[in-house]
Amino acid sequence: MIIALDGPAAAGKGTLARRLAAHYGLNYLDTGSLYRAVGVALLQSGHDPENAAQAEAAARSLSPDQLTSPALRGEEAGQAASKVAAIPGVRAALLEFQRSFAATAPGAVLDGRDIGTVVCPQADAKIFVTASLEKRAERRFKELLDKGLSAIWEAVLQDMKERDARDSGRSVAPLVPAADAVVLDTSELDAEAAFAAAVSIISQRN
Ligand code: CDP
Repeated sequence: MIIALDGPAAAGKGTLARRLAAHYGLNYLDTGSLYRAVGVALLQSGHDPENAAQAEAAARSLSPDQLTSPALRGEEAGQAASKVAAIPGVRAALLEFQRSFAATAPGAVLDGRDIGTVVCPQADAKIFVTASLEKRAERRFKELLDKGLSAIWEAVLQDMKERDARDSGRSVAPLVPAADAVVLDTSELDAEAAFAAAVSIISQRN
């Protein structure tokens, strides 16, 4: 079984994806970490994340140990990720890895922006997880503080707006729900309620 979870930043995809993977006994891939790792690789080597040739080279040479660095979680990494994610060559370089991860038994939950539309259009269930801008900024702010990272509320809100605009407005694999995705708005749902709602959506699909 393949479950595709897409949606904007801090909508609750990661927490939900991990719980669904454990519940159904599936592998889990946070595809955002791939784009974050490419973005951070560019920042660390002093390159501009909008430099297409450098970004594509970084995506092609990505290694698993780059995916677990704590540096991936900060807002700077998120911004760099959304810049490299708009470069077609970067997306193409990361596509095969994501598809073969999904195809590996026993199946997987993947979260991202284009899982249901591009990476796994044949997924057994597609959920577009969303929430209001304010709720998402609130969650991200709390998440950063809980991780001991510094955060300024206005900056987090502004970052969320910029990333929403860049992810939705880009010409390659923009953030849109797949035609056959079910929209799950988590603005008023806690993690438990979002999980229950997702299980109910998946059980109606299978
Ligand atoms: O955790 P958060 O929702 O803030 O972001 P993420 O899922 O880690 O993704 C970081 C950035 O990578 C996003 O803003 C997207 O621009 C990009 N991304 C993408 O284009 N396609 C994906 N499948 C996953 C992430």
